[in-house]
Amino acid sequence: MLTSKKIVVCVTGGIAVYKAVALVSKLTQAGADVKVIMTRSAMEFVQPLSFQVMSRNDVYVDTFDEKDSSVIAHINLADWADLVIVAPATANVIGKLANGIADDMVTTTLLATTAKVWIAPAMNVHMYDNAAVKRNIARLSEDGYSFIEPSEGFLACGYVGKGRLEEPENIVKLVEDYFSPKDLPLKGQKVVVTAGPTRERIDPVRFLTNFSSGKMGYAMAEAAANLGADTVLISGPVSIDAPSNVTFVSVESAQGMYDAVVAQFDTASIVIKTAAVADYKPKVVQAQKMKKQPGEATIALERTTDILAELGTRKTNQLLIGFAAETNDVVHYAKGKLEKKNADYIIANDVTEAGSGFGTDTNSVTLVGHNGVEMHFPHLTKKELALQLLQTIIQLEKDGRK
Ligand code: PMT
Repeated sequence: MLTSKKIVVCVTGGIAVYKAVALVSKLTQAGADVKVIMTRSAMEFVQPLSFQVMSRNDVYVDTFDEKDSSVIAHINLADWADLVIVAPATANVIGKLANGIADDMVTTTLLATTAKVWIAPAMNVHMYDNAAVKRNIARLSEDGYSFIEPSEGFLACGYVGKGRLEEPENIVKLVEDYFSPKDLPLKGQKVVVTAGPTRERIDPVRFLTNFSSGKMGYAMAEAAANLGADTVLISGPVSIDAPSNVTFVSVESAQGMYDAVVAQFDTASIVIKTAAVADYKPKVVQAQKMKKQPGEATIALERTTDILAELGTRKTNQLLIGFAAETNDVVHYAKGKLEKKNADYIIANDVTEAGSGFGTDTNSVTLVGHNGVEMHFPHLTKKELALQLLQTIIQLEKDGRK
């Protein structure tokens, strides 16, 4: 979530310094590039090496200890940062900052930065309540600094009250929220995507399936999540990893996929059925492995439920998007499915085309929609195509066309 975000953590001297180690570790694990500046008092509690190991970066303490002669460290760090967090912030550093004092590496960097600065105080309850500290906090708030309020609880000094450094995981959540884009088009919407094949068991060792790799469906789920949707990916058995930003539901058969989709349907805004669902399943699943017999064998099949068609009869406000894997008259058949399944869009996939359809990393499709939309998308990677398809559909819906 924080990949490529540059965060400076200023650590000042209080017992909560040990929590700052956890904060730096969690920010780094979330993908941020973290650089730590410590005051000399902070070093009384924890050695710089702990922060160096957690951040995998040099730790800065002395303004005059220039590690790189081509730059001035405190200006360089101040310019580099996307966000500066002072944690724990002592009454002393709050007082210095409120009065424009810059007498060490932490305070010179704080005065030099134009990045957003968050201050997370941690101190004794009476110190936090002290009039001078309150005055300094009020002044810094007026100057545009933000505060992460301390929480209440047992303090190291033996008191119970307000003054504990906010828990590192809560600070990380605030940071993630700060950096998460606010104007994504699918924010607040739930998108359900199905992907992959289904398996229809014949006996304990055999099944009917198809060549779907899940790549197209997984790309649709990732694109929906990247556009801000709360995304649920319901997948048949595949050998690729689910995107990290979706809720993953694993299913095996058409019936399992039906149950999983229906369970999500009422709260969904958009359902995208990329899965290649079996149309038929064995009428009887043999309890024992079938033995070979001389001559031909016949397996009686029966229809599975058409999940998309079923959703088409149930839909209220949901936008229903299906795919259609075709080998001929692609657009003609896709339009038929649009009508028959009461879908809003069908993405028609000519699976005979080179570089398209099952298993490939690329695809080329035609989007057909109610009210006559028919748009061709030439070969693109499945990831790029997924994003373009969703952005197009979002725009079409915005324009009031389908
Ligand atoms: O997974 P990949 O290797 O990346 O390949 C991608 C893909 C080729 C599987 C994909 O692009 C695709 O075309 N998916 C739809 C395949 C398919 O089953 O098409 P269909 O024409 O048989 O079905 C039409 C629609 O009805 C689909 O949205 C399908 O999910 C749905 N359906 C079909 C049968 C059924 N019992 N229930 C359904 O919901």
